Amino acid sequence: AGRRLVDGFGRVASDLRVSVTDRCNLRCTYCMPAEGLDWLPKPELLTFEELTRVIGVAVELGVTSVRLTGGEPLLRRGLPELVRQIAALEPRPSIAMTTNGLGLDRLAAPLRDAGLDRVNVSLDTVDRAAFADLTRRDRLADVVAGLAAAAAAGLSPVKVNAVAMRGVNDEGVADLLQWCLDRGYELRFIEQMPLDAQHAWQRSSMVTQAEVLERLGERFTLTPTPQERGSAPAQTWLVDGGPAIVGVIASVSQPFCGACDRLRLTADGQLRSCLFARTEDDLRTPLRAGASDDELARLMMTLVAGKKAGHGIDDPTFLQPSRPMSAIGG
Ligand code: GTP
Ligand code: 5AD
Ligand code: SF4
Repeated sequence: AGRRLVDGFGRVASDLRVSVTDRCNLRCTYCMPAEGLDWLPKPELLTFEELTRVIGVAVELGVTSVRLTGGEPLLRRGLPELVRQIAALEPRPSIAMTTNGLGLDRLAAPLRDAGLDRVNVSLDTVDRAAFADLTRRDRLADVVAGLAAAAAAGLSPVKVNAVAMRGVNDEGVADLLQWCLDRGYELRFIEQMPLDAQHAWQRSSMVTQAEVLERLGERFTLTPTPQERGSAPAQTWLVDGGPAIVGVIASVSQPFCGACDRLRLTADGQLRSCLFARTEDDLRTPLRAGASDDELARLMMTLVAGKKAGHGIDDPTFLQPSRPMSAIGG
C-alpha cells in the first residue's frame, strides 16, 4: 500500500486506458487504409483474466479509472464479462469506454448491467453521405441507434467525439453541435494528431481549436466553464449560457501533457506511458511466465518513472509512434 505510479515530473498515473482489440469495423480515412491493417493474431491478445490481473495490479498502485478502447472495443467477444470482472476489483475503478457505436444498440444495456459507467462515442458527421465517405461504411444509422441506446441505458453523460477535418466536416461543426444539443449528448471536437497508419498527417491541414471555436461562435455564444479542468484532455465551454457544454481537445495547439494522468495497455499486453511513447513495456511475457503481482507492479512503476514530459509533436526530431492509434488505443 502507498505505492503509486509517479513519473519524473511528479505526475501520477490514475487513469488506465485499455485496448481490448486492434480490429475495427469502420475504415475512417484518417485512421487506416481501406484494406484494414495486419490484425494481431488472437493468441497475442491478453485474455479477460490476464487483462483483469493487470488492471488489478494497476488499481493497487492507485489507478481509479479504467477506459476500454480499441480498435473498436465492442468487437471483442463477451465484453460485458470483462466489465463484470473489472467492476469486481477493490477498490472498484470507474469504468468507461470509447467506441464507434456500432453494436452499442444491442450492448449498451448488458454493459451497463455489468458495471460500465460511461461511454464516449466517435461520430464526426451526421450527414449520411459524408459519414459513408469518411468511414468507408454506410452505417450512420447504427451509430445513431447506439447513441440512443447508451442514453436510454443510463450511460450518462453520453459524450460524442468528433475529429475536425478540413473539407470533410469542418463546415458542419455548428450543425453537429446542434444535433448533439437536441439529444443531450456532450460534444467534443478533437484536433487531429499524427497517429494515422498512413503517416499522412500534416500540421498545415489540421483544423485547430481556434478555428472550431470561430465557426461555433457564428451560431452559438460560448463562455468558458467555471470548473477546474484537472487532467482532462477537453477544455469546455457553456453553450448559450448553459447548462449544455461543448468541448475541444486541442492536443496539438494547446497540449495538456503537463497534467497528464494517463497510462495505456495495448491489446497484446504492452504498457505505454504515452500515446506518443517511443518504447513499450512487455507485460504479457512475464504475465505468462508466472510473474507475481509485485513483479508486475515494479515493471509498471519503472515504465511510468521514465515517462517523457510531453508528446513532442512540435520538436524538429518528432517521429510518429511505431504503431498507429488503432493499435495503441485512443
Ligand atoms: P473523459 O473522461 O470522458 O473526458 O474521456 P477522455 O476524453 O479522456 O477519453 P476519450 O477516449 O473520449 O478521448 C478523446 C480523445 O482525446 C482521444 O481520442 C484522443 O484524441 C484524446 N486523448 C485522450 N487521451 C489523450 C492523451 O493522453 N494524450 C493526447 N494527446 N490525447 C489524448
Ligand atoms: N487524432 C485525433 N483523434 C483521433 N482519433 C482517431 N485517430 C485520431 C487522430 N489521428 C479519434 C477517433 C475517436 C478516438 C478514439 O480517437 O475518432 O474519437
Ligand atoms: Fe499524456 Fe502523452 Fe497524451 Fe501528452 S500526449 S497527454 S503525455 S499521453
